[in-house]
Order: sequence, then C-alpha cells, then structure tokens
Amino acid sequence: MTVARQSPVLFFDSGVGGLSILGPARALLPTAPVIYAADSAGFPYGTRSEAEIAARIPALLGRLVERYRPRIAVIACNTASTIALQHVRAALDIPVVGTVPAIKPAALASKTRVFGVLGTDATVRQPYVDRLAAEHGADCTVLRHGCAALVQLAEAKLRGDPIDPHIASAALAGLTDQPGGDRMDVIALACTHFPLVEAELAAAAQRAGLGPLRFVHGGEGIARRIAFLTQGQPWPAMPSPGVAVFTRVDDDVRRLAPALAGYGLGRIEQL
Ligand code: DGL
Repeated sequence: MTVARQSPVLFFDSGVGGLSILGPARALLPTAPVIYAADSAGFPYGTRSEAEIAARIPALLGRLVERYRPRIAVIACNTASTIALQHVRAALDIPVVGTVPAIKPAALASKTRVFGVLGTDATVRQPYVDRLAAEHGADCTVLRHGCAALVQLAEAKLRGDPIDPHIASAALAGLTDQPGGDRMDVIALACTHFPLVEAELAAAAQRAGLGPLRFVHGGEGIARRIAFLTQGQPWPAMPSPGVAVFTRVDDDVRRLAPALAGYGLGRIEQL
C-alpha cells in the first residue's frame, strides 16, 4: 500500500500522558506529521471498568482514522493498550502500536530484584501485567500500585497549575510501604502520564531518603517501533505543526495550549 507523504502518525491517550510517547517519536522522526488525540470526555480511564474501556476506544479510534487518515496509530496509554489493543487492531486496517508496562526493562535494570510497577488502578490489575511479570521478572518481587492522583498531577502540571508535592510522595509510599518495598531500586512508570512527573517523583524519593531509584518507561522503544514500521515510507522534507484533537474542548483543555505548543502541537481541534 502506498502511503501519502502527508499522512500523519496518530497518537492516542485519555489526556496529556501520550505526550511522553510523542516526545521521543518526534525526536526520532522530526518531520513526521502528527495528530495527538486525547479523549478528554472519557478521561480518566484508570478508574473505569474493563468493559467501558473496551467498548469506548475502538469506536473512537475508528472515527479518528476516518478523519485524519493516519499511516499508523499509536495507543500512547497503558490502560487502553493492556485492555483494548486487540479490539483496536481488529477494528483498524493500519498498523497499531501499543504501550505496555515497561516490566522487561525494569527487570533487566533491577539489581536488588525488587521493582515497582506504578500505573493506573485499571492497568495494575490486568492479567497482561501478570504475564509480563512472569515472563521477565520471575525471580523478582514485583510491587504494584495504582495511582489516579498522579494522573491528575500530570494534567495539572501541564496546565500550569500549582503542584502538591504530597501526591508524588503518596504514590511512592504506595510501593515502598509494601513488603520488600525498602529494597526496591527500579520503578516502571506504567502510565504514560507518569514520565511527565518524573522530576516530582525523584524529588519525593529524595525527601523520603530512599536509595538511588531508577525510573523506566517505554517512550524511546515505541519511537523505534514507529520508525521500524514506517521504514521506507515518504516523509515531508520539513517539520510541520501538529494538531491536538480532544473529544471535549473546555477551559482545562484550552489552558494546555502552551504545553501542547512545546510539543509542536500548534492547533487544538474538537473531534
Ligand atoms: N495515560 C494513561 C495510561 O497510560 C491513562 C491515564 C488515565 O486516564 O487514567 O494508563
């Protein structure tokens, strides 16, 4: 199938989290046209049921693909990927890249063999996470914690709102307070919102006097996967401003404009 030079890469998340995936992708493919889609009307996903998520996302992706004709779709959301990736692949006739918890790199990096998986409530209870932990971390203690407040913190940070440092501290305590938590040396940021508040998490770790803690996530790996799947396709010669499309545009969304512009997204649209 021939791909039009202007055909974009579509990124999809419930909110701004997917920007942590878009950033590395733009660095690797700087002239790729980009559509960043956020389901602001369905946000947050992490406290929804599996059935709600599985029903909502394929239909939404279908509408986005019809409107923007992307060459590839990137589900830049761990919650959506661990629950609905197969449904989305079945519904679309373009390649779909998912974002799954970075358990493999966490297991590879952990020296103490105790690592954490910090995600949404919906993600950390998925059998997908059990499978990844069994496959890559069978000799490890894998601590899990779901943290909806940290998702809100990332949204607030990108809107330019004041940041409550206790939220990052509480998220870390959700892991360190579990048996074995004092030996944890790596945390997989298994929600795409969380790399956006990595500095706040690192500061909280320092305040708590924790030993050196490493954070891992999938952004760079996904960028390489997009480059691999689009190998040989034509790209524009020059970078162009990307488009951010939201399922609901309200004041909170409008206040994200400066942060979105920082990621090369110059225009906001409503789906
Ligand atoms: N960014 C999302 C993830 O990676 C979900 C955040 C939410 O909507 O709860 O899981």
